[in-house]
Amino acid sequence: MNLPARLGIVALVLGAFGGSIAFLSAGQNGGTSSGDTAPAVRWESSAQCRDCHRDVYDEWFGSHHQISFTNPEVRSTSDDFRKEECMDCHLPRPLAVTGFGKRTLPRRTHFDEGVGCITCHLGPNGGILGRQSRPDAPCKPVADTAFLAVDACASCHNQHGTTDQWAASTFAAQGTDCSSCHMPTVERKRADGSVRQGRMHRYDGAHDKATLRQAGEFTLARDGAEVTFTLHNKGAGHNFPTEERHRAVDIVYRFVTAAGPGEWTRAYRFRNPYRDETTPINPGNATSENTQLPAGERKTLRAAVPDDAIAVEARLWYRLTPFVLDDDPRSTLLEERRLELR
Ligand code: HEC
Ligand code: HEC
Ligand code: HEC
Ligand code: HEC
Ligand code: HEC
Repeated sequence: MNLPARLGIVALVLGAFGGSIAFLSAGQNGGTSSGDTAPAVRWESSAQCRDCHRDVYDEWFGSHHQISFTNPEVRSTSDDFRKEECMDCHLPRPLAVTGFGKRTLPRRTHFDEGVGCITCHLGPNGGILGRQSRPDAPCKPVADTAFLAVDACASCHNQHGTTDQWAASTFAAQGTDCSSCHMPTVERKRADGSVRQGRMHRYDGAHDKATLRQAGEFTLARDGAEVTFTLHNKGAGHNFPTEERHRAVDIVYRFVTAAGPGEWTRAYRFRNPYRDETTPINPGNATSENTQLPAGERKTLRAAVPDDAIAVEARLWYRLTPFVLDDDPRSTLLEERRLELR
């Protein structure tokens, strides 16, 4: 393991001796009304929740929230966090400390916990926040609306406008929030064998094919002398793709003749260009034009059918980073269609 991970383990061990030291300084108590009494336990590591919330812990462990500081992709692009501003969200202090909806600040402990239980669940007074107040539970969670609100995700997820895109969509109007899609309900077993409803903590997104496939409805049709390719963003509560400027969604097609299939041609790329990019994403776009597909919208492309074509094939690709080929593990084939033309 690398140095930060080892330091993280040391920090975990020290954390176990944290005992009942009063939690935060008086200056950090503002914000929400919850958790008025000083807690008996000093909550500072996800490891403290593990034994009682094993299933939640196991979902979170290995997720992109847990690996956010150890993720090799992030380590290389942040120059091993020599770019210190990258730590703000990839190794953050608890949301309640900086304020829900506000940009988070970096911490220097628990390197292997990235965005952990404490980041989201710690209250301004050192208690645990949840959907319901449960004074009977050993961790005494307290109901808190700021913790449940989309603003809690916005602290880190609005850098590229994901939260604003959602707010402008019909999903926001109908009350389908980030957690409705990214924390599906699951069943949890209590120690006495009874069952209660829980929420999935894996936060599947761009690294999960099943989640990616929920975003778009892809159709291929004939329209006279042309074929049409249509992508409808019906399942993402924000642009498709969203967030990172690396992310790209491509529609490609090829005609098939009696001699076999031709070359793949790209019909369109949906992507937000880097700030310094000088070539537009697609011919006809402005240089800095963001071609991501907003929630609920459709985009239709057309291609003229050659005389000798007997069929057309089309594919929808998702790429974690734009300049990779189809056989690269960072490319995911989402959909494949074929239409006979005679
Ligand atoms: C000693 C065991 C124990 C520890 C440690 C513990 N919890 Fe709990 N927690 C429980 C039990 C038991 C419940 C009640 C579950 C039920 O509904 O039966 C609960 C409930 C919760 C709830 C649900 C509140 C709601 O909205 O219904 C949250 C959130 C929670 N815990 C978070 C945490 C976090 C985060 C940690 C670590 C910082 C933690 N807990 C540590 C035992 C524990
Ligand atoms: C304002 C919060 C914030 C800051 C600051 C931030 N990131 Fe991120 N980063 C995120 C979020 C949220 C995601 C998840 C969304 C996504 O994957 O596009 C992410 C994802 C990433 C990913 C994709 C990881 C993968 O496995 O695909 C990389 C790489 C990355 N960040 C690098 C950086 C670098 C380098 C910096 C500093 C220059 C940085 N980030 C600063 C919030 C932030
Ligand atoms: C209606 C369901 C739905 C809602 C609501 C929703 N999402 Fe998503 N989200 C998706 C789907 C589907 C994907 C995969 C396609 C994509 O990347 O756009 C996704 C992808 C993501 C990703 C991965 C992006 C990347 O590049 O790594 C992040 C991060 C994310 N969503 C955050 C959010 C946040 C934050 C909110 C609330 C402001 C939210 N989502 C609301 C369905 C939803
Ligand atoms: C990115 C923020 C985030 C992180 C990280 C996170 N949680 Fe949660 N958790 C939530 C939200 C939001 C809810 C409430 C969802 C709802 O009811 O709408 C929740 C609900 C819960 C619940 C009650 C529902 C259930 O599934 O039992 C428990 C218990 C819980 N979290 C424990 C944990 C533990 C333990 C960890 C660390 C292993 C953790 N959480 C990490 C945001 C987070
Ligand atoms: C403290 C900052 C922070 C908060 C708060 C936060 N996230 Fe994240 N989230 C991140 C970072 C950083 C990553 C990417 C880490 C990486 O890939 O290395 C990420 C990754 C994700 C991904 C997975 C992207 C993928 O492609 O695998 C989803 C989905 C997501 N977050 C949704 C949410 C939702 C929903 C909330 C609110 C309940 C939330 N996050 C709260 C920082 C945060």
